[in-house]
Amino acid sequence: MLVRSESAQAAVPIWFVTKETWPRIRESLPLSAQGFAGACGFEPKPGRSQILPGPDGEIAAVLFAIESVETRTRDFLLPGQLAASLPPGLYRFANSPHDTSLAALSWLLSAYRFHRYKTSSGDHPRLCAPDGVDAARIERIARGVILGRDLINTPANDMNPETLEAAALTLAAQHHAEAGVTRGEALLEANLPLIHAVGRAAEKEPRLVDFSFGNESAPKVTLVGKGVCFDSGGLDIKPDAAMLLMKKDMGGAATALALASMIMEAGLPIRLRVLIPIVENAISANAFRPGDVYESHKGLSIEIGNTDAEGRLILADALALADEESPDLLIDFATLTGAARVALGPDLPPFYTMDDALAADIGRFGTDAADPVWRLPLWDPYDSLLESKIADLNNISGGPFAGSITAALFLRRFVERTASWVHFDIYAWTPKTKPGRPEGGEVQAARLLYDLLEARYGTTVPAGTPDNWEKSAAETVP
Ligand code: BES
Ligand code: MN
Ligand code: ZN
Repeated sequence: MLVRSESAQAAVPIWFVTKETWPRIRESLPLSAQGFAGACGFEPKPGRSQILPGPDGEIAAVLFAIESVETRTRDFLLPGQLAASLPPGLYRFANSPHDTSLAALSWLLSAYRFHRYKTSSGDHPRLCAPDGVDAARIERIARGVILGRDLINTPANDMNPETLEAAALTLAAQHHAEAGVTRGEALLEANLPLIHAVGRAAEKEPRLVDFSFGNESAPKVTLVGKGVCFDSGGLDIKPDAAMLLMKKDMGGAATALALASMIMEAGLPIRLRVLIPIVENAISANAFRPGDVYESHKGLSIEIGNTDAEGRLILADALALADEESPDLLIDFATLTGAARVALGPDLPPFYTMDDALAADIGRFGTDAADPVWRLPLWDPYDSLLESKIADLNNISGGPFAGSITAALFLRRFVERTASWVHFDIYAWTPKTKPGRPEGGEVQAARLLYDLLEARYGTTVPAGTPDNWEKSAAETVP
């Protein structure tokens, strides 16, 4: 993580330069360094870096070009690129990038590697915690994201309903959250028939993890995450190219756990509940079928138009359960539709809510945190596309249009009592490495929501590790 500043004197300074500041910074450099940068053809084009040698051939300083202040699209995560390109060693920021906290966070996020099956070689560059930033907070956010990425990147043979449940329970236990799991046949007794129907064909039983954290009387925030450990499509089987990445179909669960980790580690004064419906959408003799009709937790009957629209089914039961205690805020994350990618691409997940004030906050925090999302409408006239001739509702619209919107409208049928609900249709994957976002599993929208929840509910408990949280909470929370 970040190196604390006692060792900062020994660290190599990184100078951020823009088109405007470069001439002045260049003049402040020793003549030999000016000459070296010139000979290497260094120009202050955003993303360019230049190592400057000292008299003994050591690395004396690094130049890194960032956008001008007036540039419309400044990438606050750009400095993270250095973590993936500099030689091993200790570095510090010599001056300020556009957003020092995000630059430091991006360093940690860029340095991430998935090394479960392939060890990455040796040392990597390390960054001193910049002056004036909340290093513990940055690390807490990075830890959450890294947890989520590891869960997504782990293939389905090692990340199955059993192991995803274990990961959720481990996180809950680290923070002394109260946890319970409903598995297999017990889902039917608990009236969670859709989670059971979708997951019953898999070797590992379907299940629902439910954990709660924090003071009962604090504002109730509930997170729900789609935990489809592998989505073969079911009997409506996916073609090879579409199935290839479907280990990431538990990205919603990973995102909910990442955000929960940040919230619990910070000890935000909310009553947090996390619901993770976990299944594998598999094919077997007892698989649910197109044309089947199932009763849902809420009582609405659902006709299965397509077994590949499984995410909304398991979410329907989890959301209906969450809705029963009418939380103040209900947030769900799901890799729900390919249509969301067609509309907005992999880097900009759409979100849906009826709460305009919440939508405005989400948009603003998303931009500020370089965790961008885009609001799409719960367009009432499309609601009728979900009608079924023999049941209350079909799980697909039947047509090729507005697939992400109709999926969100499907979910809305199961949320009635909650004051404020928001649904994120995430991609959970970075196709090609960018600053702060290495190729592979990605946690989207958790960072922005952590910032939003922290701003809304405030921190009464000093930042700390899971282990000392209880102690400090006991001192400050009545
Ligand atoms: N997990 C997929 C959606 C998905 C696909 C997300 C690719 C990200 C990338 C989901 O379960 C699914 O299969 N959705 C179908 C819905 C359709 C059958 C109505 C889809 O989007 O094609
Ligand atoms: Mn599917
Ligand atoms: Zn799916």
